[in-house]
Amino acid sequence: MTVRHFLSLMDCTPAELAGLLKRGVELKSLHHQGVIYEPLKNRVLGMIFEKASTRTRVSFEAGMIQLGGQAIFLSPRDTQLGRGEPIEDSARVLSRMCDAVMIRTFAHATLETFAAHSRVPVINGLSDDLHPCQLLADMQTFLEHRGSIKDKVVTWIGDGNNMCNSYIQAAIQFDFQLRIACPEGYEPDQTFLDQAGDRVTLLRDPNEAVAGAHLVCTDVWASMGQEEEAQARMQSFAPYQVTPAMLDRADESVIFMHCLPAHRGEEVSAALMDDPRSVAWDQAENRLHAQKALVEFLLIE
Ligand code: CP
Ligand code: NVA
Repeated sequence: MTVRHFLSLMDCTPAELAGLLKRGVELKSLHHQGVIYEPLKNRVLGMIFEKASTRTRVSFEAGMIQLGGQAIFLSPRDTQLGRGEPIEDSARVLSRMCDAVMIRTFAHATLETFAAHSRVPVINGLSDDLHPCQLLADMQTFLEHRGSIKDKVVTWIGDGNNMCNSYIQAAIQFDFQLRIACPEGYEPDQTFLDQAGDRVTLLRDPNEAVAGAHLVCTDVWASMGQEEEAQARMQSFAPYQVTPAMLDRADESVIFMHCLPAHRGEEVSAALMDDPRSVAWDQAENRLHAQKALVEFLLIE
């Protein structure tokens, strides 16, 4: 049997993704009721973090413990990965000891190389190109607050980064219209735009992009690995701060999401983080439930 990986949303069918969201909602309810559900007893998730993380690390680690298994945190600083052991060899070895491996890395190719040499499922915990686990949480959050996202208008404001690319793939898989408002020179990768065709519209003016939107999302202006560009980016992105006034132009049912960490006063105003239309904390919590559904799907089904 071929091993299932989750490197992007395109690794699942739309029906499988819908099933994952439904299961995430169920697992959340069981967890909130205090029900013990431990189908992954003795199963181990290896987690390689080449970049910092709060939510991804804690949600996978807590999720594995809640499902009866364990997670092992591995950083290049403390492993041979940081001393030049080939990724192929690391994959061969770790996949003989772990039941699944989650990787947060820079180049997306690192994930693909690891997956090609792994005997067990590999999960993308964020690469420079994509952040599919975050999208599972975001889509579950929309479902819980507003129902199906099909045919809704989603507006991405800011950098055409890994999150934006995953939103483009989500537009394809969950069948919604995506408007992206970004400064010149910060557009998402053309390959992803080409995949999505007319489901995605690229605009410059954030106020035009939010008109009538049902979901508005943003993310930091400088992602991990772009720290040296942060100052230069600040100027280009200044008109793209998402505020309550901007959301007033959206549909009256609009909700706001931010994958976090948020930089108040930059991509989002402090007031919007506290606005009733912001669901950022539910969104963060759903990382736990959505990824429990994902791990269960990859390891049990
Ligand atoms: N949203 C997200 O992935 O957060 P962390 O970087 O804290 O994992
Ligand atoms: N685009 C951000 C997301 C962090 C969760 C980054 O890559 O740093």
